[in-house]
Amino acid sequence: MSSMQDPGPGGPATASFDFPALRRFPDIEAPNLYAHDATDELILAGAADRLAALAGTHDGGSLAVVGDRYGALALGAAARHGLAGIRVHQDALSGELAAANNAERLGLGGRHVSMPLVPGLFSGATVVLWQLPRSLDELAETAALIRTHAAPGVQVVAGGRVKHMTLAMNEVLGSHFHHVVPGRAWHKSRLLMVDGPREGVPAPDFPRKEFNAHLGLWLCAHGATFGGTKLDLGTRFLLDFLPRMRPAATAVDLGCGNGTIAAALATARPGLQVWATDQSAAAVASAAATAAANGLGAQVTVVRDDALARFPAGSAELVVLNPPFHVGATVHAGIALKLFDAAGRVLAPGGELWTVYNRHLDYRPQLQGRVGATEVMGRNSKFTVARSVAGWGSRG
Ligand SMILES: C[S@@+](CC[C@H](N)C(=O)[O-])C[C@H]1O[C@@H](n2cnc3c(N)ncnc32)[C@H](O)[C@@H]1O
Repeated sequence: MSSMQDPGPGGPATASFDFPALRRFPDIEAPNLYAHDATDELILAGAADRLAALAGTHDGGSLAVVGDRYGALALGAAARHGLAGIRVHQDALSGELAAANNAERLGLGGRHVSMPLVPGLFSGATVVLWQLPRSLDELAETAALIRTHAAPGVQVVAGGRVKHMTLAMNEVLGSHFHHVVPGRAWHKSRLLMVDGPREGVPAPDFPRKEFNAHLGLWLCAHGATFGGTKLDLGTRFLLDFLPRMRPAATAVDLGCGNGTIAAALATARPGLQVWATDQSAAAVASAAATAAANGLGAQVTVVRDDALARFPAGSAELVVLNPPFHVGATVHAGIALKLFDAAGRVLAPGGELWTVYNRHLDYRPQLQGRVGATEVMGRNSKFTVARSVAGWGSRG
C-alpha cells in the first residue's frame, strides 16, 4: 500500500508490521482483492500513542477491535506495540478464520481472542480500533455497545474510505459520544477520533423487527445484516417458485441473511426441517430471531458457517440461495461461484439448488458445471430464477 517515497500515514515511529504478508484465505483471493487497506494503516498510526501507552501499562486487555477485515488492526497492534489479550469482533467468519491463520503464520498466535458483538467485547476497554461499517444500523448497534460498556475515558479510533463516509455517520456517532472529530486523510481514507460517551441515551433496539405484509412474516435484523428487515426483491421473486421446489424432509437456506427464506420455507411446509446458514454473525443471530418471532424456532436451526463447510457431502435434498455478488465493497463473482460449489458438494444426487440472480448475469453455465443440469425457471425485469439438479449434469 505505501511506497518508498510515501511518508506513510504518520504517527510515532513503531516496530514495523508487514501488511502485505496478510492473506485473505479462506476468503476469496484474487489480484484485485486485498487483505488490508489504507484505513488499517491510518487507524494504527492514529492510535499509536494510545497503543504505546497500553503497552507501557502491560494492559493489552483494554484494547478492543471491531470490523477488522483480515486481522490487520489486531495483529498490527500486537506486532507494533507488543500487545496481547486483544478482543476482536469480525462479523464475517471468513475474516475471523483469516485473522487466526494470519496470526499463526506471522508468529502472532494467541495475541487476540475472537468474540461475538456482545457487551463483554468492550467492557472496560480504553482504546477501540474500528473499521467503520457502511450501514448506519451496524454503526448504531456497535456505537451503543461501546458507549455503554467501554471505560468512560475510552478513545475510539475509527476510520473508513472517504467515498463511503457520510455526515449521517457523524450524526449517529454524535448521538452516542460528545466528540466526533475528523482526523487526517491519507490515500482516500479518513480517521474519526471519537470519545466522551454520552449518558442517559436510550439504547437502540436490536434486533430490529418489522412485519412484512407480503409474506405475512416478521423479519428481524441486527445492524450488520444484509438488507436489514426488508424483503430482498430477488428473494421475493425466488419465493414465488417455492411450490415448485422438490418435496424434501430437510432444506438449507444458504446465505440466510435475516432468515426470510428459511421462515418462508418452514411456514409453507410445516413438516420441513430447515438449516439457515450464513458466515455473518449478525445474519445467523437475525435468522434465529426471525424464526423465533414467527414461532418457527423448532423447525429452523441456524449455523454460522463458511460456504457449508460443516455440512457433509451429499447430505442435502434442497438448497435455496440468493447469492451475494459483492465481496465487501468490490463486485466479484467469486463468492457466488464458491456458494454454487458448496451447494454442488452437499446436495445428494437428485437434490435441487434454487438460485436467484440479476438478469444481466448468466450463471447457467456455471451452475450446470458446478451443480448439475440447470434450467431457467423464470425471469422478470430484474432477476432470473434457476433450478439445478445435482448429479444429472456435467458436473466439473
Ligand atoms: C444477497 S444476501 C441474501 C440474504 C438472504 N438470504 C435474503 O434473501 O435476504 C447473501 C448472503 O450470503 C451471505 N454469505 C456471503 N458469503 C458467504 C459464505 N462464504 N458462506 C455463507 N454465507 C455467505 C452474506 O452474509 C449474505 O447474508
